[in-house]
Amino acid sequence: MVGIYLSGTGNTKHCIEKLLHLLNETAQAVPIESRNVAEELKRHDFIVLAYPVQFSNVPIMVRDFIMHYSELWKGKKVLCVATMGLFSGDGAGCSARLLKRYGAKVVGGLHIHMPDSVCDVKLLKKSVEQNRKIVEAADQKIEKTVAKIKNGKYPHDGIYFYDRIAGLICQRLWCYGKTKDYTNGLKISTECIGCGLCEKLCPMGNLHMENGKAVAENRCTMCYRCISSCPKKAITLLGNEVVEQCRKEKYRADYQPDS
Ligand SMILES: Cc1cc2nc3c(=O)[nH]c(=O)nc-3n(C[C@H](O)[C@H](O)[C@H](O)COP(=O)(O)O)c2cc1C
Ligand code: SF4
Ligand code: SF4
Repeated sequence: MVGIYLSGTGNTKHCIEKLLHLLNETAQAVPIESRNVAEELKRHDFIVLAYPVQFSNVPIMVRDFIMHYSELWKGKKVLCVATMGLFSGDGAGCSARLLKRYGAKVVGGLHIHMPDSVCDVKLLKKSVEQNRKIVEAADQKIEKTVAKIKNGKYPHDGIYFYDRIAGLICQRLWCYGKTKDYTNGLKISTECIGCGLCEKLCPMGNLHMENGKAVAENRCTMCYRCISSCPKKAITLLGNEVVEQCRKEKYRADYQPDS
């Protein structure tokens, strides 16, 4: 068993690591941008594929990954895991349908509610304490799910036809354009000090330095990793100002904010 995941602000990483650890202590979680990800996909028969939902859809980087390795999915068992800030309808079902097309045997889908990662839009923002509670509830859901899986019962979140209708009607129909392609919409303000952190972090290699400033290209998968990490809060995408940088470690009980 291996886990393959995309995680922008750490939510999905947290969930897949916990899930794998409880399912099989030796299983590794591999970021989708790792060099060895194809090797890991080839080597294992059971894949846990995890990603954050974006507008009730799978991030384009994950869709491209599935399609790029289309010949490797045949006969693999796959559990699709989608983390989300509020609602996705069929967040897990979207990748499940694509994977089935390439011959994967989808064993189930799991939706996990986590803190919202869109840190440049006020909507859905919660206090650190509220987000801690959300993470606690997510941990409990993962624990219960693993107990059921160990008894041979996989979850089916987002997999059924009515989930698909909910995902379509409530969001995808109206927002499909936002996830159809990579975006060139990243904005970098003059606050940028050229520290290079965003360039190092971006899973798409979408950022580079020019004359001591960060410059974005047009291959952003909207993961919000750079936006949530920039020390100058200089990067935005959907909004125009960073409200609260979202990073999973903030929700640990022992987290101390920078003074
Ligand atoms: C561009 C974008 C779109 C999102 N759309 C949705 C959505 O449609 N429904 C939802 O519940 N959460 C949505 N979210 C929230 C994330 O899915 C959620 O916070 C997720 O746990 C982030 O995981 P990560 O930290 O691993 O990236 C969106 C986040 C981003 C960045
Ligand atoms: S992380 Fe922020 S400050 Fe550092 S280079 Fe990127 S945009 Fe500039
Ligand atoms: S540019 Fe930023 S938001 Fe876009 S893919 Fe790279 S790290 Fe993620």
